[in-house]
Amino acid sequence: MKILLTGGAGYIGSHTAIELIQSGHNVVIMDDLSNSSAEVIRRIEDITKTTIPFVKADVRDKAALEEVFANQQIDAVIHFAGFKAVGESVAKPLEYYDNNLVSSLVLLETMQKHHVNKIVFSSSATVYGNPESLPLTEESPTGQGITNPYGQTKFMIEQILQDAAVANPELEVSILRYFNPIGAHPTALIGEVPNGAPANLIPYLTQTAIGIREQLAVFGDDYNTPDGSPIRDYIDIVDLARAHVEAVRRLVERQATEPLEVFNLGTGRGVSVLELIRTFEEATGVRVPYQIVGRREGDIEQVWADPARANRVLGWTARTPLSETLRNAWKWQQRQG
Ligand code: NAD
Ligand code: UFG
Repeated sequence: MKILLTGGAGYIGSHTAIELIQSGHNVVIMDDLSNSSAEVIRRIEDITKTTIPFVKADVRDKAALEEVFANQQIDAVIHFAGFKAVGESVAKPLEYYDNNLVSSLVLLETMQKHHVNKIVFSSSATVYGNPESLPLTEESPTGQGITNPYGQTKFMIEQILQDAAVANPELEVSILRYFNPIGAHPTALIGEVPNGAPANLIPYLTQTAIGIREQLAVFGDDYNTPDGSPIRDYIDIVDLARAHVEAVRRLVERQATEPLEVFNLGTGRGVSVLELIRTFEEATGVRVPYQIVGRREGDIEQVWADPARANRVLGWTARTPLSETLRNAWKWQQRQG
């Protein structure tokens, strides 16, 4: 099968490209490189020993997208492209709504025109807002208490996909709600590349461990959790990438029982910030200087997934131990210096 990956040069897209190719698929990548580089494409080619058709263009560019669908026999699309920084989205809401919503609309219109009817969408646990109860299942309420424009775009795109699937009976949608993707490819050739000072925990932690940052700020130890620090469901990036292969397989083999299916992608296990620092130190033997500071505005106390549906329906489970994921993140940091 030939799969178009929008945003395929990014963190999750690049790891997914490798898993798809290693499962026998062909991929075409479209990315405007607004948050990635062409070097990533070369690294994917190195790892997979293939040549990847790469189009450097903005998904909102109708003519460029049109050309891709006209020239390539695309069977399915995975839509990763979009802006993803929560804090930046508060400062630049219009850019976030424009990029994330318009790219999705232009993509869906062009797919329909070319009778490409299978799409996997990168959504986020952020659509659940502040959980009423844990673990989160796909039936947990969404759209309430989303604290930032980035999260709103994910919720809105899910709505758009639902409406599009009602209107077009041919359309088949798989919405993947990622929890906290972390780690890097075991080759240490690709991984997460933060833009400036990292906003997310793992890149900040590994940059502190290597000495780029003086100390990690732990945002609060006064939450109602066993050690007081917030809890998340950290999912290994290669495990996450493998789930996309299964989601595509289900669409291509026409196994989906609904026009739109939703899957939580997480481990099902909540880990606190302090527990994560300890696990990193034990796994790598490297100390991470940290200081407890005040809570970060907008942070949720605790969140983790019930991944049972993905386990059962996709035949997928997160299997990489956290210590191995953290060792891979560390190897990637060391490779970058
Ligand atoms: P990323 O920034 O590394 O990758 C996104 C890629 O899309 C980048 O390569 C960027 O250059 C490209 N891009 C952005 N706008 C584009 C456009 N209009 N046209 C073409 N290319 C464009 O981010 P990621 O972590 O790989 O995330 C991928 C997707 O998963 C995003 O939609 C993100 O919102 C979602 N997601 C990520 C996380 C996470 O923690 N990383 C969690 C939940 C959901
Ligand atoms: N944290 C720190 N210090 C840091 C960075 C983070 O203590 O320097 C803590 C946070 O308080 C939080 C945990 O580490 O408890 C994880 O924080 P991240 O910023 O790595 O991740 P979040 O859970 O806040 O956000 C992630 C994605 C968002 C997405 C959200 C909900 O980055 O895109 O999950 O799905 F919206």
